[in-house]
Order: sequence, then C-alpha cells, then structure tokens
Amino acid sequence: MYVCSCFGITEQQVREHAGNGACTPRKIASACKAGTDCGSCVRRIQQLLGRDACPRREAADRGGAGVLAA
Ligand code: FES
Repeated sequence: MYVCSCFGITEQQVREHAGNGACTPRKIASACKAGTDCGSCVRRIQQLLGRDACPRREAADRGGAGVLAA
C-alpha cells in the first residue's frame, strides 16, 4: 500500500528506511523524498515511525542531531 502517492513510496519502503536509521519524517524525506511534495503523507509516515518501525527511535529522539550522515 502506498504511503506517499506523489513519489510512489510504499509502507514497506518507509519501514526499510526506518530500519536503516531514518527515524523521523525528515530523514525519511531525505532517504526517498516521501513527504516533500504535497505533504499529505507526513502524518501517515509519523504514525508508521511512531509504532514499531524504528528500533532506534528513542536514541534519535534524544540525540538525533549527530546522525546527519545517514
Ligand atoms: S503524498 Fe507524499 S508528498 Fe504527496
């Protein structure tokens, strides 16, 4: 199922990026552009990230500024 229809990004792809450390909608956007056009999918992406997609989310929330290279 598509999360971002502007760029054809699926829920699965968002989960994969999250698993690779893209733990915020902003990082998802830099990984695959999802959310950078109409923006209507950002909330959905936030929901996906907020559930179980990203094991490193807490660490990113605490000190995420240092992980820009990902
Ligand atoms: S649906 Fe994702 S930017 Fe438009």
